[in-house]
Amino acid sequence: MNAFAIEEIWRFALAAIPLAAIVAVVCRCLPCRPSTRHTLWLTLLLLFVLAPFLPGAPVPDLASLAGEEAGAVAAIPAVADGPPVTTGKVEKDEGPPRRALTDGEHGMAWPGPTYTLCAVLAELHGCEVREVPFAPDYSLPLDELVGAAASLTYVCNPNSPTATFVEVSDLADLARRLRGVLLIDEAYVDFASQNCLPLAGELPNVLVVRTLSKGYSLAGLRFGYAVGSPELIAGLSKAKDSFNVDALSVAAATAAIQDQAYFQQNVERVCRERERLSAGLTKLGIAPLPSQANFVFARCQSPPAGCVYRALKDRNILVRHFDQPGLSEWLRITVGTPDQNDVLLNELARIM
Ligand SMILES: Cc1ncc(COP(=O)(O)O)c(C=O)c1O
Repeated sequence: MNAFAIEEIWRFALAAIPLAAIVAVVCRCLPCRPSTRHTLWLTLLLLFVLAPFLPGAPVPDLASLAGEEAGAVAAIPAVADGPPVTTGKVEKDEGPPRRALTDGEHGMAWPGPTYTLCAVLAELHGCEVREVPFAPDYSLPLDELVGAAASLTYVCNPNSPTATFVEVSDLADLARRLRGVLLIDEAYVDFASQNCLPLAGELPNVLVVRTLSKGYSLAGLRFGYAVGSPELIAGLSKAKDSFNVDALSVAAATAAIQDQAYFQQNVERVCRERERLSAGLTKLGIAPLPSQANFVFARCQSPPAGCVYRALKDRNILVRHFDQPGLSEWLRITVGTPDQNDVLLNELARIM
């Protein structure tokens, strides 16, 4: 049991004592004079009914939720054992976790190209970064990442912006060979066929971070969680912002996670459209890489990707173009609704 739970139980007990005293006094005043045993039972019954309204009443958390994902999360000792819900994400609130997980000498390493915000945040916090290129087939550059000997190795899986997926067994291999922490960003994992959650339970240096922004379509909620070994979570809890996720977000996230049927429907709808969009783009000569995310990454050389991006923007269709080496020939296209995808494909057919 963690310190957080003990504190909650203590607060709950403090609130229960006056309640028991009141019940005892009231019972003594009753004409029927209930026995001590009946008074105790009555107190317990009242405690049971009033529990949710007492200070220290358990706040719903991911570990206590029903549903497939919560069940998987709760099954991991680190989650059952520590506060599973954290404010923001490691990559969003990168300062404290970086200070906790890296040092000046052995900063971060990651396979690239990857989530562009990471480089910006690393620079902001003065963190040394070594970017190792993905192999041409987008598999993990294992030896190079191990050789980088970073305190914190970041792998976004499925990766952004390529939408490609690295085998779980490769990530397990990497974690075993690393001396530092392996941070796996699973922002897009709900659209993939596998995930790395089991690794967080098996390997003490693996930290998996997730968000409700993508698979649950709740980007406005600002809710995410980290899963790792108790030691890792305890270290991060010490370094994180002292304020926790707000109660409204926890309630909304709880409701969302409990509705697994809706979640599955949402994910399946996106995956179905992803296949249709990929087929449409391939017909237009801009075949995307195999995607395991809610977007596709398609190479567009003629006309140049930058021109296609601008032509689409003129038509109020927003896709992403990264005007930087290695990425400038590609477009990152989010899977939309069937209507939106039809409009995109029709406009692209005119532009190409
Ligand atoms: C790879 C990756 N990780 C994490 C995030 C952060 O997600 P959020 O802050 O919306 O939870 C994003 C957002 O786009 C992302 O692309």
